[in-house]
Formats: sequence, structure tokens, C-alpha cells
Amino acid sequence: MGRLIVVSNRVATPTETKGSAGGLAVGVFGALKDAGGVWFGWSGDVVSESVANAGPALVEEEPVTFATVGLTRKDYDQYYRGFSNATLWPVFHYRNDLARYERDEYAGYRRVNAWLAHKLVKLVDPEDNIWVHDYHLIPFAEALRSEGVANRTGFFLHIPFPSPQVLQTIPPHDELVRSLCCYDLLGFQTRNDQQAFHDYVAREAHGKVIEHGEKAEVEAYGRKLRTGVYRIGVFPDEIAEQAARYESRQHVLDLKQSLEGRKLIMSVDRLDYSKGLVERFHAFEQLLEDAPEWRGKVTLVQIAPPTRSDVASYRMIREELEREAGRINGRYSGLDYTPIRYLSQQYDRWKLMSLFRESQVGYVTPLHDGMNLVAKEYVAAQNPADPGVLVLSVFAGAAAELSGAVLVNPHDATGMAEALQQALSMPLAERQSRYEINMAALRRNDLGVWRDTFLSDLSNVPRLR
Ligand code: G6P
Repeated sequence: MGRLIVVSNRVATPTETKGSAGGLAVGVFGALKDAGGVWFGWSGDVVSESVANAGPALVEEEPVTFATVGLTRKDYDQYYRGFSNATLWPVFHYRNDLARYERDEYAGYRRVNAWLAHKLVKLVDPEDNIWVHDYHLIPFAEALRSEGVANRTGFFLHIPFPSPQVLQTIPPHDELVRSLCCYDLLGFQTRNDQQAFHDYVAREAHGKVIEHGEKAEVEAYGRKLRTGVYRIGVFPDEIAEQAARYESRQHVLDLKQSLEGRKLIMSVDRLDYSKGLVERFHAFEQLLEDAPEWRGKVTLVQIAPPTRSDVASYRMIREELEREAGRINGRYSGLDYTPIRYLSQQYDRWKLMSLFRESQVGYVTPLHDGMNLVAKEYVAAQNPADPGVLVLSVFAGAAAELSGAVLVNPHDATGMAEALQQALSMPLAERQSRYEINMAALRRNDLGVWRDTFLSDLSNVPRLR
């Protein structure tokens, strides 16, 4: 049996895979450890051309090799900051109003994919299976194929796949879908995303789609491939254990003391416009407006570490959020009460889990999100004897699974304020039964199931030759 080659824009460091890195890194690393193999991608560094060309740098951690390359400033600007995060990210999250298209950035995106593929080729054995992750690497398989690599190659899209009409706002949409069809297996987070891809193939590319439940065979652009729905998950019992272990640490005690008996609503997101942060603050304001009995009795803690701050739309959302937090606090604070505690800082993952466990409400309301693992982590971190309530946007992929959540439309401030009230006053028995429903879903479909199903489907696709 061949090894596994994982390719992703970011590669966790060997230390991160052992510690408290995001669940995905731990899950993917688990598969690499089992099969042996290589994790290949960008090091996160911007370097000179000669350093970039000298890569990849290899770190051996038997049986896994971490292979990373640096990007030159131009490559970073065109591939990462440009086409990936200023074109694909907004459009795939239905924010084509925030997207821009620059032909040279798209050319850079393809050039970097081809260059990365070229760098990887030397590390690939003929029997290896290759698993590529996310929107940065849509043309990666096509580039591998033109280097003569015939290995089974699968792709998992961590973010939503937009409906054809939205996708078509990206001028080279046809080339992008054609490139996707060079993979042997495409994995999507939800049925909606898979369906949107099928719609494009059938209606715009005049291809053929034969569905068998959540799996499908696709024929388009002269290639045959398969698609499937693979809902990414977490390891819920490990999170529960860690959240409980950290429960009596100083940071939790400090938070508890500072709340002085007030109820706590917790939100944690990368500072991204797709997360609906401003809408969320407005709905919280609406709660304080509509239900004066909650004034001074409930605190919203929003942790939002900034990301991609060299992309203009990210700077704008940050400014707006800071302004709104200030405005709402100015309006509803008391001398001893601040309704919103807004922290634009990175927090250790296990610390976050223990804060989730302390809070009565997990407030996760993206405008669009592939899955949203924070929602799953919030549930897993709860104390079964006294669980908090998840208030979740219907536009998060997780909403299709977590039927014990209180579902909301993030565009409806009044509806969200009502949902918060419902969650804050929910009796214990109902909280427990909702928690049990959600936990059962998390256990049924944990991170291991996601990973193993994808990899087993990948190893069942016929070889090219
Ligand atoms: C999302 C994407 C990932 C990405 C992560 C962090 O979850 O789906 O592919 O790695 O955001 O974003 P960054 O741009 O910092 O890598």
C-alpha cells in the first residue's frame, strides 16, 4: 500500500501536531502517521527567490516528512493575498461585492500552483495517494498531471462552493472548474456545496452527473471523477476531557470572578467578514434594547484574532467591528459593567475550550461558512451536567448536523435577539436533551470518520494508468 501525501497551503509544524493545534492538523497528522508520508505546503514565510527555489525544506518525524517552501513577495501577493484571498475567498462565501479580479493575480495563482506541484513531484512515489486541501490549490492536480503524475489525487474544499451564477462572477470560472475535474475525487462539506458543483458541471459545462445518494460520478471536460460529501468533525471526547481539565485554571477563575454572576455568551472567530461579527453585535444590542431585564446581567465575550490584515476588506471589517463594539458599550455600559468584551487576540485552543465550558451560550453566527468547527468544539466542551446552548447560524455547514442547536438567520437581528433570550433562559432538562442530540451527532461523525471515509473513497477510485 502506498503512503499518503497531504498538500495544503499551510502546514502544521511537528510540534503543533502534538499540542493544541486545530483539530484538522491533528486529524490529518493521524492519517499521515498511520500510512507514513509527506505533508507539503507553504512554510508561511516570505523569502527571496533563491531561498524559495532551494526548497522544500524537509523535517523528518518518522514516518512523516514535513516539506515546506517559502514564497517570494510577488508569489505571496498574487497567489495568497490576491487571487486566493481577495477573489476566491469572498466569492465562495457569496461576497462577490468584496471581491476583485486582477488578471495578473490569477496568472500568479496558476504559476504558484504549477511551481508547488513541480516541487512536490520529486517526493512522490508511484503508489502514493495525494490529498490536496482547499481553495488555494484548485489547479494543483492539473499541474501534477502535466508533470506526468498519475497518482490518485483527491481534493477537499473546506469552504462553501458557490452556486453557478455566483461562481460566474470570477472571469476564469470555466478554467477553475475544468481544473477541479483533473482530481479523481472531490470532497465537499455539505450536500448544498456538492449540488452547486454538480449544477455547474451539468448546466454550464454540459457534463454528466450520476448521483448515488451523497456520492456521485461526474464526467466533464473529457475526464471522469467522483464527488462526495464529507462533513469535517472534531474528536469530541478529547475536547470534553481537555475542557474539564482546564476548568479550574487561573484564567477561568479570573473570568468567573470578573463576571460577578452574570451570564456569559462566548464567540470565537478569525476576524473575517464571512463570520457575521457586526451582525452578531447588532443582535446582541437588540437583546439589550428589547429586553431591559438583561442589561447588566449578560456579557458577550468575542475573541477575534485578526487574519489576512494586508487584504483591504479585512482592515475594513476590523475598523467597523471596533467602532460598533465601542458604540454599543458606550450605550449600555454601567460603571461596573461592559456588555461586550472584544479581544482581537489569539488564544490557546485548550484555554478556549475551558472558556466555552464556562459559558451559558455559544454564539456562532457566520453569514456563510463551510462547516464551522467552533460550533462543534463549543458543544464538545460543555459540562454534561450543566451544558450551555449553541445558537447557530443556518448558513454554517454544521447546522445540517447539529439539530440540538437553536438555529438563527444572521440577517435577522430581532430573531437572533429572541434566540439569545431563549438560550439564556432555557431550563436544564431542555439544555441537556439538546446537548445529547448534538453530542451524538459529533460522535457519529467525528474527525476520524471524515478522514477515513475520504481516504477510503480515494483509494477506491480507479488508477489513471
Ligand atoms: C480557513 C481556510 C483555511 C485557512 C484558514 C486560515 O479555515 O479554509 O484553508 O488555512 O482559514 O486562514 P489563513 O489565510 O491564515 O491560512
